[in-house]
Amino acid sequence: MTAPRRVPAVVLRRRPRGLPAPDDLVLADTELPSLADGEVHLAVLDLSLDPYLRSTLAGRHLGDAPVALGDVVPGRSVGRVVASRAADVAVGTLVLAETGWRAEAVVAAKTATPVRVPDGVPPSAALGALGMPGLTAYAAVVRHLAPRPGETVVVGAATGGVGSVAGALLRRRGARTVALVGDDAKAEDATARLGYAEAVVRGRDGWEEALATACPDGIDGYLHMGDMPTLHAAVRLLAPRARVSLCGLMDQYNGGPPTMLPAGAVMMARATVHGMVVYDHDDLADAQHDEVAALLADGTLVLHEERHEGLAAAPEAFARLMAGRNRGKVVVAVGC
Ligand SMILES: NC(=O)c1ccc[n+]([C@@H]2O[C@H](COP(=O)([O-])OP(=O)(O)OC[C@H]3O[C@@H](n4cnc5c(N)ncnc54)[C@H](OP(=O)(O)O)[C@@H]3O)[C@@H](O)[C@H]2O)c1
Repeated sequence: MTAPRRVPAVVLRRRPRGLPAPDDLVLADTELPSLADGEVHLAVLDLSLDPYLRSTLAGRHLGDAPVALGDVVPGRSVGRVVASRAADVAVGTLVLAETGWRAEAVVAAKTATPVRVPDGVPPSAALGALGMPGLTAYAAVVRHLAPRPGETVVVGAATGGVGSVAGALLRRRGARTVALVGDDAKAEDATARLGYAEAVVRGRDGWEEALATACPDGIDGYLHMGDMPTLHAAVRLLAPRARVSLCGLMDQYNGGPPTMLPAGAVMMARATVHGMVVYDHDDLADAQHDEVAALLADGTLVLHEERHEGLAAAPEAFARLMAGRNRGKVVVAVGC
């Protein structure tokens, strides 16, 4: 009997406290199970890093199974099928699967979905614009923000995986989009590369006045993916009948206090506040795919990614993401 193969993976070494540190996670050799009927063996190409993982690692992300110390970090990848014991999945197929942070993985074929990207668009788009972050953006735009032409919509974390797609979808519906971002480089990305009308750097001296100036008639729609001070500043500027989508609470995920909503400002604006849970919007996946793929294919939507090379780079990349230092959807190139 041959010994099981061992493959590199990233495991949980210490549960993050506050902002994740790169050494909370560590590269290790892990056993690759042998292939059983109905399974496929994947060589991981691109691994997605996502903020929800911070809650998963803390044991408090919706239905996610708890991650014990020493367990492989969960995560979604694009991988190539290198061996198959499933009649309907051919070797060589590119699939999206929950592989965890591994160089190779064995998964049930029925949980792996073929990657569909337009010609000329890299497969990693299936992790971002055409994947879960893109669906989040799509659902927030069509179900929560429902912009009318000429309305002003403010997008938090505007250049990230969700934000960069939301901006394009909003503009397609005639909205004037204002980006909230964390630094000058992202402000430049937002206006010069991603098409936002204006960008405001959150947290800087005078930024709340700058936001008010950028939204002279108030904010008709607000996609919240930031921290509590940002939420409060945006809500104070809501126009009558504004819509808010509460989508990401980055400071809270990193151990900050629970995010509170300024109820008086919501009430005075007669605003509607929606809570986003992307898993409620799977029925929109085909519509999202069609619209976002068309925007990528014609160049209206730029795939805005921050790519890191090699699995060993993933812990540092995740710490960067949770600290808000990423520029675009974070992807780790694991193999080729
Ligand atoms: N509710 C759902 O179903 C759902 C689904 C997917 C994603 N999300 C959420 O949507 C948000 C965006 O996700 P993403 O994958 O596209 O990530 P991302 O935007 O690429 O990265 C997270 C961004 O959050 C911003 N941020 C704002 N305040 C922050 C703070 N206090 N600390 C750290 N970062 C802060 C940073 O951008 P700036 O520096 O430019 O502000 C950072 O780059 C996340 O909060 C995520 O949890 C929610």
